[in-house]
Amino acid sequence: MNVAKGFKLLAAALATVAVVSLAWGAEPAPPAAPALANSDCVKCHAKPAAAIEAKGMAHKTSVGCQDCHVGHPPAVAKKDIIPSCGMCHTGKPHFKLAGCLSCHRNPHTPKVITFGKDVTDPCLTCHTEQIAKLKTNPSKHTKLNCSFCHDVHGKIPQCTQCHKPHSADMGAGDCKKCHQAHMPKVVAYGNDTPNKFCSACHNKANSLMTASKAKHGKFLCVSCHQNKHKTVPNCQECHGSPHPAGIMNKFPVCGNCHSIAHDLNNWPAAEKKEAPAKPAKPGKKQ
Ligand code: HEC
Ligand code: HEC
Ligand code: HEC
Ligand code: HEC
Ligand code: HEC
Ligand code: HEC
Ligand code: HEC
Ligand code: HEC
Ligand code: HEC
Ligand code: HEC
Ligand code: HEC
Ligand code: HEC
Repeated sequence: MNVAKGFKLLAAALATVAVVSLAWGAEPAPPAAPALANSDCVKCHAKPAAAIEAKGMAHKTSVGCQDCHVGHPPAVAKKDIIPSCGMCHTGKPHFKLAGCLSCHRNPHTPKVITFGKDVTDPCLTCHTEQIAKLKTNPSKHTKLNCSFCHDVHGKIPQCTQCHKPHSADMGAGDCKKCHQAHMPKVVAYGNDTPNKFCSACHNKANSLMTASKAKHGKFLCVSCHQNKHKTVPNCQECHGSPHPAGIMNKFPVCGNCHSIAHDLNNWPAAEKKEAPAKPAKPGKKQ
């Protein structure tokens, strides 16, 4: 701004303010002088005006400078023309927070929001679902602040920002096939989860399966261990009662003869001979 012009403008503005404040106290009122208009402010306050122009959002469209800044120095003290947010924003839990400007750093760009990594409670004035999950399913994530992970509002972090995958087969996009961020210890998965994800931790089960020639060897782990981690199926859920009751009474555990489900094929030939008279076969085979 041109300094000389600025002084002239200020002088004019101050004269206006003086006349206006005079008008308040004195009677009878002198002829009305032109009041300071919203369009005048930019002449001396280029920065706030530019900020509002660019990113004022509702503070540009729903209010003007003077809705917030009522009066002007020297007639009104500088501190008294800075509005409190609560002058207009009331009635929601969010508006009861302390330190609005700690996140809305600049009232002239109200939606440019920044905060530190230690924020939780203020988030809860708008988001309640996540804290409920975190609390009903306690994990080490429950002890973290929301903004430790969401350091920019609305940003969703990748798990792999902080954790290594269980194996080289897994990418960042795979974590949510088994985990949810706000309840990471409750592991649940879909019925298409590939065996290689399980074998990252269950190498033994996987190698038995891969080596086995039995039909189970071709199955997905999750076709038997369904939905939730550590679910163990009962053979009879799928096979019913394949053998006569007499035999089952004597040998109540399927694994006595068939070994583990992953490895039906390793059933030793010798034991096969000792096996009882030919058992009834389930369903479709032969
Ligand atoms: C002619 C120039 C001029 C115009 C026009 C003008 N101002 Fe100012 N304004 C100033 C000056 C100079 C100060 C500093 C006064 C002081 O330090 O005592 C100031 C101070 C302020 C402050 C306080 C700043 C602080 O540091 O706390 C606000 C807010 C403000 N003006 C808003 C406005 C608004 C809103 C308008 C339009 C309605 C406006 N001004 C119009 C020159 C102007
Ligand atoms: C929604 C309310 C609101 C509106 C609209 C608004 N301001 Fe402000 N303004 C504030 C608040 C609050 C502060 C104090 C910010 C702080 O303490 O950091 C402020 C600070 C200022 C300051 C002093 C600090 C600075 O940034 O230079 C000036 C000058 C100013 N405003 C001018 C304006 C002008 C000019 C307009 C219109 C183009 C305007 N304001 C519109 C709320 C508003
Ligand atoms: C003079 C009244 C007034 C003051 C003072 C005021 N605001 Fe606003 N603000 C509004 C209005 C009107 C809206 C639009 C309607 C609404 O969202 O309630 C708004 C909207 C907003 C929005 C949403 C913007 C958008 O476009 O979605 C934010 C964020 C905001 N205000 C923050 C603040 C903060 C922080 C302060 C204090 C520094 C503040 N306001 C002071 C009147 C005000
Ligand atoms: C911890 C940071 C933080 C603090 C402190 C904070 N806000 Fe917000 N505020 C936000 C976030 C994040 C949003 C959501 C922005 C969005 O919707 O994109 C928001 C949105 C808003 C909105 C627009 C949405 C709505 O509900 O109307 C207003 C208005 C607002 N804040 C006013 C305030 C006021 C007034 C205060 C102080 C009493 C305040 N904020 C304190 C972070 C904060
Ligand atoms: C004033 C209310 C308000 C506050 C406070 C607030 N948010 Fe939000 N948040 C919203 C709204 C509204 C959206 C949806 C915005 C959209 O869809 O563009 C959102 C979106 C989000 C998203 C993205 C959601 C998605 O589906 O992509 C995350 C993550 C988020 N907020 C986290 C936080 C965290 C962490 C805090 C505290 C630091 C916080 N929010 C504070 C209102 C708020
Ligand atoms: C910003 C970093 C960060 C992000 C992003 C993150 N975590 Fe964590 N996570 C941690 C920290 C810190 C711990 C606690 C580590 C410790 O104390 O050993 C943790 C612990 C865990 C634990 C162990 C919980 C317990 O109570 O034993 C699991 C499981 C976990 N994270 C999974 C995930 C998954 C899945 C994602 C993505 C959805 C994810 N994390 C995203 C930082 C993060
Ligand atoms: C350990 C990091 C971490 C922490 C702590 C965390 N989040 Fe999230 N959040 C995520 C990840 C990752 C997602 C993406 C969804 C997923 O993977 O389950 C997410 C998703 C969201 C979403 C989008 C909607 C949804 O539920 O999927 C919101 C909103 C959200 N978080 C808010 C919060 C709030 C509020 C807190 C604090 C109470 C919080 N988050 C704590 C990592 C975290
Ligand atoms: C196939 C399902 C599955 C997938 C996919 C998966 N996890 Fe896990 N994850 C688990 C299981 C099961 C545990 C719990 C083991 C236990 O009970 O100790 C676990 C535990 C964890 C732990 C805590 C224990 C540890 O190893 O530190 C972290 C952290 C973790 N997962 C992160 C991830 C990340 C990051 C991804 C994506 C790259 C991911 N997980 C993908 C099933 C999975
Ligand atoms: C991050 C490593 C990890 C991943 C990935 C993982 N698990 Fe586990 N799993 C474990 C741990 C640790 C145990 C507990 C072992 C113990 O108690 O001896 C376990 C136990 C089991 C058990 C035994 C439960 C019992 O009662 O004996 C089954 C069944 C199981 N997992 C199946 C799976 C399946 C299916 C997948 C793939 C969808 C999978 N796991 C992925 C680590 C993992
Ligand atoms: C989730 C269902 C499921 C569970 C649980 C299950 N099976 Fe099977 N099993 C099958 C299916 C399907 C076949 C193939 C049937 C066919 O093609 O005729 C099969 C085949 C077999 C066969 C024949 C193997 C072959 O190669 O021909 C034996 C023996 C068998 N199962 C025993 C068991 C035993 C013992 C258990 C428990 C330790 C068990 N199964 C658990 C579904 C299951
Ligand atoms: C045909 C069904 C079936 C399939 C396919 C299957 N399991 Fe199992 N699994 C079982 C049954 C049944 C048990 C309980 C032991 C038994 O009776 O054989 C079991 C036990 C386990 C156990 C606990 C005992 C141990 O060996 O540590 C783990 C871990 C396990 N399975 C992981 C896996 C993984 C990983 C896969 C895929 C590579 C897989 N399972 C495929 C049926 C199956
Ligand atoms: C006493 C040993 C023994 C026990 C215990 C036993 N089986 Fe068998 N099972 C056999 C023999 C022997 C065969 C016939 C093998 C063949 O025909 O090659 C057989 C066949 C099967 C078959 C059909 C295989 C095919 O090729 O069609 C299934 C399925 C089966 N058993 C499931 C089970 C289940 C489930 C249990 C537990 C409820 C069980 N078995 C308990 C010895 C046993």
